[in-house]
Amino acid sequence: MDLASYKPTGKLKNKHMLTLMDYSTEEIFELLSCAIELKRKQYAHEKHEYLAGKTLAMIFEKSSTRTRLSFEQGIKQLGGSPIFLSSRDIQLGRGEPIRDTVRVMERMNIDGIMIRTFKQSDLDELAKYGHIPVINGLTDDFHPCQVLADLLTVYEEFGTFKGKKLVFFGEGFNMANSLMLGCAKVGMDVTICSPEGLGPRPEIIRAAQDAAFDGAKVVVTDNIGEAVSGADAVYTDVFFSMGQTKDPVKEAALMPMQVNAAMMAKANPGAIFLHCLPAHRGEEVTDEVLEGAYSRIFPEAENRLHAQKAVMYLLMKD
Ligand code: CP
Repeated sequence: MDLASYKPTGKLKNKHMLTLMDYSTEEIFELLSCAIELKRKQYAHEKHEYLAGKTLAMIFEKSSTRTRLSFEQGIKQLGGSPIFLSSRDIQLGRGEPIRDTVRVMERMNIDGIMIRTFKQSDLDELAKYGHIPVINGLTDDFHPCQVLADLLTVYEEFGTFKGKKLVFFGEGFNMANSLMLGCAKVGMDVTICSPEGLGPRPEIIRAAQDAAFDGAKVVVTDNIGEAVSGADAVYTDVFFSMGQTKDPVKEAALMPMQVNAAMMAKANPGAIFLHCLPAHRGEEVTDEVLEGAYSRIFPEAENRLHAQKAVMYLLMKD
């Protein structure tokens, strides 16, 4: 099985998207092949209002540009409607339990919930008390929707996952966790390069290794040279995610992992640079790399739209 020959089945209805831990290789291929088809339809100006009359509630407890835009624009292009809910404005922000919020939403005929929050356990609670699909728009542990867009970008570039390697430089936080799972499950080698003591949690490394498809290798190291060698995609994220406090010791440990032109020169010829954005120029990445010929950050950002449309369509359709 590979993505090029994968035959979509249309299944996934009513499944939650809490983490890629819960998704098989086949289910990720289902989402990616749907994203490719929805992208084709959009470029061909073919109407694709598969979610006409459906409503997506979008709960944001943290700021967002790409996630909000892609879900809001995506549900509209699918014929549905978004409702944007900042936790600053709703009772959730004043302590109303998440289990009550989701049951109220169901009574209001909401068809799907996208949430960006801190604790993964809040998503588990939404999923436990509700009967409508819950989509993770980023937690401290995972960012699965971003990784679907990243995988789509890699596939568009190379036409395959097999034999390709992605290296992530940074802390073992939400992006590292989801990239490890996503890459391993589609059959792409993945290396997470983090300073000692800042690597991903062992149970997530084990989950990625156990789920690796087609012999994909999952490596966690603090050796920068080893990590970048043979890489086809070089990825990084901000040193401090939303909700984390700046720490000069951590910053000093991460600085040698900055993705600059010298780092890109050590990757494979033709390697691309990816970043979930927003980027902090001069910290985790240089302006030269972000603006360089190998940068794919804006096609990657665009692919959030196509990937998120696939998630909403497959999970929320009748
Ligand atoms: N990459 C990402 O999730 O971007 P936003 O924080 O702008 O949504």
